[in-house]
Formats: sequence, structure tokens, C-alpha cells
Amino acid sequence: MRTVLVLNGPNLSMLGSREPDIYGTATLADLERACAETAAELDLTADFRQTDNEAELVGWIHEAVTGRIPVVLNAAAFTHYSYALHDALAMRTAPVVEVHLSNPAAREEFRHTSVVASVAEGTIAGFGFASYQLALRAVAGLLAKEGPQERQQQRADLT
Ligand code: DQA
Repeated sequence: MRTVLVLNGPNLSMLGSREPDIYGTATLADLERACAETAAELDLTADFRQTDNEAELVGWIHEAVTGRIPVVLNAAAFTHYSYALHDALAMRTAPVVEVHLSNPAAREEFRHTSVVASVAEGTIAGFGFASYQLALRAVAGLLAKEGPQERQQQRADLT
């Protein structure tokens, strides 16, 4: 079963109590459960992580690059200004889907810029937990389109 890294940036550990009018009242643990369920339906395993630390997030992207692991990424506020994250994602070797719970385009001006968008296959925003579930479906679709060569490469990398 293929693993997908589901990576969450700063302040997302506070889901449930963080600005509930915007982010709802469900917690990060609830989101992890929803992702695990959707991933299982798609024959994927979700490796779900959260950090407030930019260096740690960059390190996880390096892990994905080396291991050819697909990524669903909510970079949270790093989305809007982390060129380090942009540069790490530019090295991607498997699909990356950017997600947001809220719709940044409908919020403050500083959220209208994403330095992640241009180094992701696509962005899903504004649908709450469903943004992640749709992103996992998008990843599954992209993996299904992989040619035999890419699949072979993936197996070779694992051995
Ligand atoms: C967010 C949107 C970002 O602008 C914000 O900084 C976050 C969460 C979202 O999921 O809606 O922390 O990425």
C-alpha cells in the first residue's frame, strides 16, 4: 500500500479552539481520523504530521523527495512566504497537492499569495476537512496514471 505524507504547518494543532468561525470546532485528531478513513478507501496509508517549525517541515519535504512519496500539504501561514518550502517542493519526485481548510482567496490580502501553488500539481481550498479528502483522491488519481516505469522505479527505491 502506497504511503502519502499529509503535512500540516503552524497553528493547525490548535484546530477545535482556533478561530472556530473560520476553521470549525473539530480537532486535528478528528482531521487525522478523516484522512486515515479516506486514505484506506483509496488503498493508501496517510502518514499524518503537524509542526510549527519551518525547518522540520522542509525536512519532511526532503524525506518525500528522497522516498518519492506523494504529499498533501497544508503549509498554513508558511504558504504565504516560505521560499525555503517553495524550493524544497521544487525538487518533488511525486505528486504534491496544496490544501487549505478555509479559502485564502476570500480572506485578507496577505493570504492571496501562495509560494506553494506553483510547485504543486494543484490546490484545493475552502472545503474544510473535505479539502484533504479531495486532495487524497487527487493523489490516488495521479498515482493511478503513473506509467510502469515510474512504478518500477518506486519498487526499486524501496529495495
Ligand atoms: C490555512 C490558511 C492560511 O492562510 C492560514 O495561515 C492557516 C490555515 C487553511 O487551512 O485555511 O494557518 O492554511
